[in-house]
Amino acid sequence: MRFSRLFFCFLALFMTTLTACETLKTSKPIIPIREYERMIVGRLDADYVGTNNCLSACHAHDQLRSDFDASTMGAQLSAETGLPLVDCESCHGPGSLAVQGLTPERVAADRTAGRETACNYDTLIDLENLPAGAKSLICLKCHTANATFTLHDWNLGDHAVSDVACSDCHQVHAGPDLSVQMEDVSRLCFSCHPEIRAEFYLPSRHPVPEKRVVCTDCHSAHGSPYEKSLREATVKETCTRCHAEKGGPFIFEHGETTEDCRTCHRPHGSVQNNLLAVQMPFLCLQCHQGHGTSSTSTTKDRFYTRCSDCHSEIHGTDIPSASGGGFFTQ
Ligand code: HEC
Ligand code: HEC
Ligand code: HEC
Ligand code: HEC
Ligand code: HEC
Ligand code: HEC
Ligand code: HEC
Ligand code: HEC
Ligand code: HEC
Repeated sequence: MRFSRLFFCFLALFMTTLTACETLKTSKPIIPIREYERMIVGRLDADYVGTNNCLSACHAHDQLRSDFDASTMGAQLSAETGLPLVDCESCHGPGSLAVQGLTPERVAADRTAGRETACNYDTLIDLENLPAGAKSLICLKCHTANATFTLHDWNLGDHAVSDVACSDCHQVHAGPDLSVQMEDVSRLCFSCHPEIRAEFYLPSRHPVPEKRVVCTDCHSAHGSPYEKSLREATVKETCTRCHAEKGGPFIFEHGETTEDCRTCHRPHGSVQNNLLAVQMPFLCLQCHQGHGTSSTSTTKDRFYTRCSDCHSEIHGTDIPSASGGGFFTQ
């Protein structure tokens, strides 16, 4: 008797949970994106009319349209793909009010009167003056983390946090090719980070001006969960993507120093050789005492040497020095 009551209790609990989950599953999004865009436009009676209706009356945007149609985003409209995904109104918002009364007759009348015909831009989304976050949301409604994997950490990145919008880097109407070419990356980055540009013209530097290394080898333009939007969790992991031989593990490690390459190196450029943060021997003398190298050593010898002339395996080694210790001499 007791058992069956307990059983019904559980059954009831189970059924309520099940129905609760079911409502969650079927619940609708609070407000559909299209409604939301009508609200940004400021008029709920604005409607979507399609690119043809937007652009058939006047030809001011013909070049812009043909570029767009040829781009990866515009190609989504073609008959073969059967996916009417991206058109002008996807980003500029519902266009019915903008083209209201924009008939071929009016365009002709304007032309004879020597006036330029323009649609009513005020009734479209004011992309230029939208806050950066909202501007990016217009792109992110399609470029979700699932659609564009590299945007997975966008919201964590320094750029999103500092009000940089997608369209600050991606000029949708610059031409038919939307992708950012490797050779353009540093120019793009320098346009907002001029102080970094100087570092890449110091005597020792990563070959970024030569385009053998690009900013996005180390940083993610779209942000990352790590400091300075680095591609890997630590500076060391970022560096050893290319300089794997410096990563260890070694039988003779250089203490903890190599856990962060910045102990001795600058990442972009330096006035010292080998991107060193400080000139040798002073680099080493921050942590070590100099020593004589023969019985006739003078104080001068101790300090005016390039320590790595002898300690050449400074990043760590598996081979002991002559005396059997780990002194990084071979
Ligand atoms: C992927 C989003 C997107 C799509 C699709 C799009 N645009 Fe744009 N458009 C923008 C952005 C972003 C701007 C720049 C606003 C700014 O200055 O920040 C812009 C600017 C413009 C401008 C202002 C002049 C200029 O060149 O900067 C015109 C005109 C324009 N778009 C027309 C169109 C037409 C016509 C279409 C359809 C063929 C279209 N757009 C499709 C995002 C888009
Ligand atoms: C209505 C949906 C939609 C919107 C809104 C949208 N995109 Fe796209 N975008 C696409 C699709 C679909 C593609 C083509 C498939 C792909 O490459 O992911 C694409 C492609 C791209 C590409 C080219 C990728 C390549 O490898 O060539 C870039 C860059 C891009 N979009 C940037 C933007 C930016 C910036 C915005 C906002 C101003 C934006 N998109 C808004 C759907 C959209
Ligand atoms: C700081 C500049 C910058 C910003 C801001 C930015 N991007 Fe990019 N984007 C790039 C660069 C550079 C590339 C080239 C790929 C690379 O090297 O990572 C790229 C590549 C892309 C691609 C091509 C596909 C791919 O994964 O390579 C798409 C799509 C794209 N970005 C969409 C967006 C969207 C959407 C936003 C806003 C949420 C955005 N980007 C913000 C610089 C930027
Ligand atoms: C439209 C301007 C703009 C462009 C283009 C741009 N950035 Fe930025 N970036 C910013 C702003 C603003 C910040 C945040 C303020 C700051 O720290 O400088 C930032 C921050 C950063 C940071 C973090 C700095 C810190 O001190 O934490 C890195 C790293 C970075 N950007 C790398 C890049 C790379 C790589 C590119 C090229 C793919 C790029 N940026 C292109 C505007 C830009
Ligand atoms: C070899 C890897 C690497 C390359 C290539 C690289 N960076 Fe960095 N960058 C780093 C590291 C590591 C830091 C962190 C430095 C620190 O904390 O002192 C950094 C820091 C930054 C910062 C933050 C400000 C600062 O100086 O600490 C900005 C901004 C930045 N990088 C932009 C760029 C730009 C723009 C490019 C391309 C022109 C670029 N980086 C290329 C590794 C790199
Ligand atoms: C994308 C690959 C790549 C990454 C990541 C990278 N490097 Fe480099 N590094 C290079 C290349 C290429 C050179 C130039 C080698 C040459 O000229 O033969 C170089 C050169 C160097 C040099 C010698 C510079 C000189 O003046 O001769 C040092 C030191 C160095 N890197 C340290 C680092 C550090 C520290 C990091 C991490 C912050 C790092 N690298 C990340 C590719 C990379
Ligand atoms: C204790 C200081 C120190 C640390 C930490 C350090 N380095 Fe170095 N590194 C040096 C010195 C000194 C040189 C110059 C060696 C020479 O003169 O031959 C050098 C040279 C280099 C070179 C260029 C010469 C070569 O052998 O290819 C690269 C690349 C390099 N380091 C990468 C790294 C990386 C990656 C890290 C982090 C894992 C790192 N270093 C950590 C001191 C250090
Ligand atoms: C940030 C501090 C730091 C810097 C800079 C540094 N080291 Fe070291 N070094 C250490 C530590 C910590 C150890 C490990 C000491 C231990 O295990 O007892 C070590 C160990 C050594 C050893 C082995 C000594 C022993 O007793 O095992 C030599 C040799 C050495 N370093 C040479 C250098 C040279 C040459 C430079 C300059 C290129 C340098 N170090 C830069 C911290 C540093
Ligand atoms: C002419 C070659 C030479 C030069 C230059 C040199 N060393 Fe050494 N160093 C050695 C030898 C050899 C040993 C002892 C190795 C052994 O006992 O097997 C040693 C040992 C060391 C040790 C560990 C023993 C101790 O005394 O604590 C440190 C630390 C060290 N050197 C740091 C430096 C620093 C810092 C510099 C630059 C100011 C430097 N060395 C320059 C050859 C040199």
